[in-house]
Amino acid sequence: MKIVMTYGTFDLFHIGHLNLLERLAELGDKLIVGVSTDEFNQEKGKQCLYSYQERARIVGALKCVDKVIPENNWQQKQQDIIEHKVDLFGMGNDWQGKFDNLQDLCEVIYLSRTPTISTTQLKLSLAKIDPQTIQKMKQGLDSVLDIVKALE
Ligand code: CTP
Repeated sequence: MKIVMTYGTFDLFHIGHLNLLERLAELGDKLIVGVSTDEFNQEKGKQCLYSYQERARIVGALKCVDKVIPENNWQQKQQDIIEHKVDLFGMGNDWQGKFDNLQDLCEVIYLSRTPTISTTQLKLSLAKIDPQTIQKMKQGLDSVLDIVKALE
């Protein structure tokens, strides 16, 4: 049995995440995903919209993912690879070369990222919606709710 492992934050789960996980799963028989905990993200200076529990549940619900474990720190990878008998460690190529030190323990690969999407990009796009547009959307929603209420 070939065991594949990867790590990530997976906040605002998007198509780039899914592409990476599906491609990694195809390279083996079992895919284990380390999802960064909220405490670890804080340490990394990463602000998440979804909690660890939510992110881990979303990743764990995917057909291509067999197991989710918490990623608590940078140093645990060696231990995880040994403990879970990992054959292949894979990350997106924004991490190119960063985990080559794990090559003594298993095969290490970097897959090309899905272009033009990232959690950071999504957060920036959402932040660009101006308050006036949000107000208009809210008014639209309120009108729909009024109609629904009138129909009850
Ligand atoms: N990833 C990918 N293609 C994308 C975005 C992410 O293949 N378009 C991969 C990353 O290379 C990483 C994994 O998905 O191996 C988890 O990445 P994560 O940092 O959680 O996602 P990003 O969208 O890159 O988030 P951020 O912008 O916060 O760095």
